[in-house]
Amino acid sequence: MPDFDALREEFITAVTNAADSRELEFLRIEALGKKGKVTELMKGLGTMDPDERKSVGLSLNSIKSDITTAIEKRKIALAKGELQTRLLEEKVDVTLPIRPEQTGRIHPISQTIDEVVAILGEMGLQVVEGPDIEDDWHNFTALNIPPDHPARQEHDTFYLPGEADSERMVLRTHTSPVQIRTMQHGTPPFRIIAPGRTYRCDYDATHSPMFHQVEGLVIDQGTHMGHLKGCLIEFCRAFFDVDNLPVRFRPSYFPFTEPSAEVDIGCTREGGQFRIGHGEEWLEILGCGMVNPKVLENCGIASSEYQGFAFGMGIERLAMLKYGIPDLRTFYETDLRWLKHYGFSALDVPSLVGGLNR
Ligand code: PHE
Repeated sequence: MPDFDALREEFITAVTNAADSRELEFLRIEALGKKGKVTELMKGLGTMDPDERKSVGLSLNSIKSDITTAIEKRKIALAKGELQTRLLEEKVDVTLPIRPEQTGRIHPISQTIDEVVAILGEMGLQVVEGPDIEDDWHNFTALNIPPDHPARQEHDTFYLPGEADSERMVLRTHTSPVQIRTMQHGTPPFRIIAPGRTYRCDYDATHSPMFHQVEGLVIDQGTHMGHLKGCLIEFCRAFFDVDNLPVRFRPSYFPFTEPSAEVDIGCTREGGQFRIGHGEEWLEILGCGMVNPKVLENCGIASSEYQGFAFGMGIERLAMLKYGIPDLRTFYETDLRWLKHYGFSALDVPSLVGGLNR
């Protein structure tokens, strides 16, 4: 007959001193596993006579349950200890400075478009879009620039292969074809702005073959030159955030507007310092005019009933002036250092900048 008390003692001591969960599992198998010491003894019960089986059975069962309880107890103690060490080892020092993370920047072109849209949107103009690849008719003819018109030469157009007719495709040279599409497919009144990419075959410090414009169009029954002036003066002052910014309408020519004007704002270049809103000099920033009745008729709008104004401006030029960016080509060089310097935080919600009712 084995010494049951010694057996119990041996396992309970070992279990209580087990250093980790692996050792504990090893002891469990050694005692209670398929070939464990206690299990082997239990297998012998079958050959015993009933009295002996009863007393040995009782002892073995109580040993088994004591060892099981001891294992459970040790398991909990070990888990607690392991958590404690992890808590000590993995301590977080909340006083450490944060790691510098790279944050994205809003490109000055996007920022400027957002600003222009915010200001003109507040005046009730709605954003519309048109295709970058246009047909000759929408880009030129409908805008009163027929094939032999000298204004075509000024546009340095990228033509797609094809016959020189009204269906020949071009990369739009301005956003004005969006006016045409809007008027062709809708019914007046119209109050729209069309920001987007435009293309001309030109490349230097102030020109890029791809650039951006914003077009504006307002057509209604009573719209007149006073509305055009009010809208654009207020726009310039809000965009450049200068109260009483001097704004001048200088007579000009565009085939699609009559009369036409170019808008200049007051500035100074004294001592190498360029400042908007002060001084004696003028700087051209956009083109505008009353929509030529021929253009309205080309789009099926009765010019005896409706009239209005249109304007167009270069986004890069606005951004360069407002944010002091000297070379237009740098907008497209995708230089991260440039973007970090000239870009904007994504957390700055596009605003009315100077505001409309200052
Ligand atoms: N489309 C003209 C340009 O690209 C700008 C413009 C638009 C002028 C609308 C007058 C009216 O130069």
